[in-house]
Amino acid sequence: MTVVVAVPKEQVPDELRVATVPEVVKKLTQSGFEVRIEHDAGTGAYYPDDLFTAAGAKIAFNRADLFTGARIVLHVQPPTVAEIDQLTEGTIVIGFMNPARNLDVVKRMRERNITAFALELVPRITRAQSMDALSSQATAGGYSAAILGAANCPKFLPMLTTAAGTIRPATVLILGAGVAGLMAIATAKRLGAVVEAYDVRRAAGEQVRSLGARFLELEINAEGQGGYARELTPEEKVKEQQMVSTAVAKADIVITTAAIPGRKAPILITRETVAQMRPGAVIIDMAAESGGNCELTQAGRNIQDHGILIIGPQNLPSKVPFHSSQMYAKNLQSFLALLVIKDGAIVTEFTDEILVASLLVHAGEVRHQPTRDLMNGGKS
Ligand SMILES: NC(=O)c1ccc[n+]([C@@H]2O[C@H](COP(=O)([O-])OP(=O)(O)OC[C@H]3O[C@@H](n4cnc5c(N)ncnc54)[C@H](O)[C@@H]3O)[C@@H](O)[C@H]2O)c1
Repeated sequence: MTVVVAVPKEQVPDELRVATVPEVVKKLTQSGFEVRIEHDAGTGAYYPDDLFTAAGAKIAFNRADLFTGARIVLHVQPPTVAEIDQLTEGTIVIGFMNPARNLDVVKRMRERNITAFALELVPRITRAQSMDALSSQATAGGYSAAILGAANCPKFLPMLTTAAGTIRPATVLILGAGVAGLMAIATAKRLGAVVEAYDVRRAAGEQVRSLGARFLELEINAEGQGGYARELTPEEKVKEQQMVSTAVAKADIVITTAAIPGRKAPILITRETVAQMRPGAVIIDMAAESGGNCELTQAGRNIQDHGILIIGPQNLPSKVPFHSSQMYAKNLQSFLALLVIKDGAIVTEFTDEILVASLLVHAGEVRHQPTRDLMNGGKS
């Protein structure tokens, strides 16, 4: 018996990524999986059906053909309730699940005995690096943010010495130097800008400097649990905002990526700070979807204030769908390799620590404690 893996076309508007690519289909087929792709699933990322067919996948022209007999479903965005109803009980769904915002889907998966692995719950341990989809997609997002900043900046980014005069390089400031921030720094550097960056985790300083950018120092080190940032105290927040506002006022492009897992994004740029910026300056707020790092940000909108453009982008990884899909597909390929297949069937006693940590729903139970707490009345 062959384990069938189904890949639906993503349904969220503007989602151009696909959960697998032909190169990975070839590998999965060689390891004994049968792969089915929904018609047109890869078109938005420039992986047309014929490339999938050539790699050994079958194209399904309707949902019944896609899901009937499928043991595993691979997703980028969380599935919908309607889609869960199309699946056979016991199906394994793997992808980003964003459980806190999709409790209805989690509940339906529990009711329908679906097994769900949430990629955002994959622990950030060395062995799991190849499956770290948060990092691969943050890399794509950081790149896109820098390009978006450059495209909306009325200045050249590099220094130019021309017969028409000398042009000073633009200054790009990155707030939050995690995975996305570091990629934004590297991209802005390659475009020739002078780059400065700041993070509350002092350990980020070395990484920032190694990319050739200046690290802004503040007498705060807010490295919290698991290498993530902790929330600042009210006094620390005031100090931070003062330092940040001086740097923001001088910048031509500001890219903000500051996030604290499970919490609203911290406000680093106040309305008053925006008023001090140079006309033509651009803010790309990568934290827009979790509340924004700038007080004026609105997710999915471009705001003009005092000649400053504040962009609250949504789904930046989807702006480079070819490569973000490729990276994501490889993350999933590594993740699938953790599943144990015995006599053509998946062993559903999951014991690997990566599988255990990322298991959101299984056997009619929500396995992720914070999600269970949310479902039981909002405790977190
Ligand atoms: N496999 C691994 O070991 C692995 C993989 C990826 C990331 N990491 C680490 O995980 C950590 C978080 O990475 P991420 O990109 O997912 O982070 P994230 O998306 O949670 O946050 C982005 C950045 O914002 C920073 N930040 C939070 N509050 C801030 C504030 N008030 N002011 C300024 N900056 C603020 C954080 O320190 C972080 O660097 C980093 O230490 C990273 O190196 C480890």
